Amino acid sequence: MSDAPGASTFQTPAEAYDRHIGRYGRELARALIAAAGVRPGGRALDVGCGPGALTAELVAVLGAGSVAAVDPSPSFAEACRERLPGVEVHVGRAEALPFADAAFDHALAQLVVNFMGDARAGVGELRRVTRPGGRVSAAVWDYAGEMTILRRFWDAAVALDPVAAPLDEGRMPFCTPAALAELWSAAGVSGAEASAAVVSAGYDGFEDLWQPLELGVAPSGAYVAALPADGRAALKRELRRRLGAGDAPFRLTARAWIVTGEVH
Ligand SMILES: C[S@@+](CC[C@H](N)C(=O)[O-])C[C@H]1O[C@@H](n2cnc3c(N)ncnc32)[C@H](O)[C@@H]1O
Repeated sequence: MSDAPGASTFQTPAEAYDRHIGRYGRELARALIAAAGVRPGGRALDVGCGPGALTAELVAVLGAGSVAAVDPSPSFAEACRERLPGVEVHVGRAEALPFADAAFDHALAQLVVNFMGDARAGVGELRRVTRPGGRVSAAVWDYAGEMTILRRFWDAAVALDPVAAPLDEGRMPFCTPAALAELWSAAGVSGAEASAAVVSAGYDGFEDLWQPLELGVAPSGAYVAALPADGRAALKRELRRRLGAGDAPFRLTARAWIVTGEVH
């Protein structure tokens, strides 16, 4: 099975991700956990765990021995394992989860569904490993709308070079509540409900936002890393202008859609 476009851009050191999109991860994870209704006493699986933002918040609620995690990026899986001793962490993909049927009360995927090579099969696997009465839940960015850093980034990139348009994450297939509800239903998870969560991250100044992009992580970083020096400088100027950011600290908000449904 082939990877989705962009999936390979997470084969980087975990610190690069931490400094880019990872800044939003813990707050988003708390919103996802609340929407899913994760409570002490259950067992949960974090699919596409990355360096472990959601995993860490699940550990805070359930304890390390009741949390498992899986990610196809060896560097991210290793970081998750090191950061969260006691969590069972595997290298693997959503589409073929290394767990028995009905092994968990909750299966969750934060910012992952659009990177699955076969999202219907992947969400179907989340359903398979969740017990009847348990829940399958996910969060995705509102890439086309109010995920500020990524929206401004791709608008700037496409304005400077229309060839970037197909890479714009706003074109991803599952970034509306309706598309998510439809995917949940197609994967056999009934009664899906979608809601919005707005989170935020702080930056010391524009350089603090820009430098992680040069490390090549995520589709946005990979795009920057592949640009020639003059293209990179132009994009840096244009993004700074569009964000209205300077050398002073600032915060950006990011809206995500959260979907959750029950397994029968
Ligand atoms: C945007 S990151 C999200 C990481 C983490 N969940 C978080 O919220 O910080 C997307 C993650 O999806 C993983 N991924 C890519 N393809 C996947 C697949 N087919 N199954 C599961 N995870 C996948 C990547 O390796 C990466 O860690």
